[in-house]
Amino acid sequence: MLKNFVSLKYFSKKRIKGLIKLSGEVKSHPSKFRKSLEGINIGLLFEKPSLRTKASFFVAAYQLGANPLYFSPAEVRLQERESVFDVAKTISRYLNCVVLRTFSHDIILDFVKASTVPVINGLSDLLHPSQVLGDLFTLYELKRDLRKIKFVYIGDGNNVCHSLIYAFGILGGNLTIATPKNYGPSKDILKEVRDFARVSEARFDILNDPLEAAQDADILYTDVWASMGKEKEAKMRINMFKRYQVNDKLLKLAKRSCLIMHCLPAYRGKEITSSVLDSKNSIVFLQAENRLHTAKAILISLLSASC
Ligand code: CP
Ligand code: NVA
Repeated sequence: MLKNFVSLKYFSKKRIKGLIKLSGEVKSHPSKFRKSLEGINIGLLFEKPSLRTKASFFVAAYQLGANPLYFSPAEVRLQERESVFDVAKTISRYLNCVVLRTFSHDIILDFVKASTVPVINGLSDLLHPSQVLGDLFTLYELKRDLRKIKFVYIGDGNNVCHSLIYAFGILGGNLTIATPKNYGPSKDILKEVRDFARVSEARFDILNDPLEAAQDADILYTDVWASMGKEKEAKMRINMFKRYQVNDKLLKLAKRSCLIMHCLPAYRGKEITSSVLDSKNSIVFLQAENRLHTAKAILISLLSASC
């Protein structure tokens, strides 16, 4: 059984592949898992807005027979109304699991220390592992083998980018990242995955030129230029990032079969144009749907006695 789902870096290749396989099983045979979490109470404690993460974990919980309980950003006010320690200790007395969405990643780490129930990272400023698990499952479903494709991430070196780095580091494959200077992924994370990459033979190309990166890409993945919490920088970032827009010109450089990925929400006309987001190459809504199936796989792995 898994203990927490905080970062992909704590997972072996076998564990990640197991979660992907389980996601496939719950997607194909939902009724088989209908009562697998009966009597389980799952808290969703969010400091930031959410559509996909909230809906997918909420519906996943219901469909598995569990009881989801949502706390909006205004309710608990971690560290403001009450300490992380006290909230984690209290919640552990009512609930069997918590999905946390925070600003600082340290809050998740502190919560894990105090909690006696499993904690799932539903996004922090540093990482977004449940999103990337959904993306890995989506690629697996579409029969794209990470080790045989050119996967290109263009834009901000943010939480989604970091979780992709861990995924490639553990599973292997070639990840190309193009960001503006000073907006690249964390150097600490890149250093950390070097050890994983020695085993998995992952390769990372960290560039500043989006056109060079997009050349012959099998996947073009992008995300917002200003993540939640960085809204004040949004205007300033537009100038810095405009060369990194995923548009028709960039798509022409990629392979004809190139798939477009975005975790959503998307700012149409900023990091991606509608023409690309709505193109036949786009799989963004399949990604969104697969968050539900992978949320179920995560919950079952953490909470089902049979796992
Ligand atoms: N992709 C994702 O996590 O979306 P939300 O912020 O809407 O949950
Ligand atoms: N990088 C984005 C992802 C949203 C799902 C953010 O953190 O706002």
